[in-house]
Amino acid sequence: MRLSDQQIAAFHERGVLALPAMFSPDEVDAIVDRLPRLFAERVPSNFREKSSDVVRTAMGLHLRDELFARLVRDPRLVVPAQQLLGDDELYVQQVKVNAKQAFTGEQWQWHYDFATHHHEDGVPDPLALNVHIFLDEVTEFNGPLVFVPGSHLDGPAPTALDIVSTSYPLWTVGPEVVGPLVERGGLDCPKGPAGTVLIFGDSLVHGSPSNMSPWDRRIFSLILNPVSNRQTTFGRPDHQHHRDFSPVVPLDGPFWPVVDAPEPVRRWIAVAPDTPVA
Ligand code: SIN
Ligand code: MN
Repeated sequence: MRLSDQQIAAFHERGVLALPAMFSPDEVDAIVDRLPRLFAERVPSNFREKSSDVVRTAMGLHLRDELFARLVRDPRLVVPAQQLLGDDELYVQQVKVNAKQAFTGEQWQWHYDFATHHHEDGVPDPLALNVHIFLDEVTEFNGPLVFVPGSHLDGPAPTALDIVSTSYPLWTVGPEVVGPLVERGGLDCPKGPAGTVLIFGDSLVHGSPSNMSPWDRRIFSLILNPVSNRQTTFGRPDHQHHRDFSPVVPLDGPFWPVVDAPEPVRRWIAVAPDTPVA
């Protein structure tokens, strides 16, 4: 999967790119089948909602399940990211499913990811890409992500740490900043069937409302960051920012079904959660 020049230009202008029908319903089912076991685990990498015991985000999945170890190497995720960054040496920074479950899934405040990557992990520049796969149909009802197109163009906006609104500490962007950015760029709310891919940049402002609907809105998220831009401080646990900085090598074909003995996959699942920095 290679992006066209037009798609690359649109990404740089808007900060977000949607790629419909990238994963088949069977592939999405294979991913979703793994979630009940992973969500049931009582581990620090499963964050629960503030107001309930329901899983909000399940992290470190490529170290917890072999299917995810292959998924993070799927060429449909890795190759477009390499193209957009003009860099083949990207490491797997974070791997999660944001659950946003029916009736209980809570908001993600206005933010951009680089604020957390920079303040918490000492990432130097806003280069990382967040690559999503919709695991359910995303509609206006079930807590879709909302982006401020072009909000990355002036560089990272001012932020403040919010440890109150939700269970997940987040460096957020206040209304006084979001308002003018929206006036200039409007809002974009990409929706679509399961299997859609979204790619967005590290300083693009986004958020999502709570899910009041009876439909889950589960999204797989892979953050890829250039090895040359790796984290420089190590206060957060490995599942929030992985410390294996070896470049991810795309598989020759799709992540599933597994047709050959996945020897290289072992590299990903063999890494202990708190492997010292190489
Ligand atoms: C969401 O899952 O709605 C937000 C995820 C993100 O901010 O990356
Ligand atoms: Mn985010």
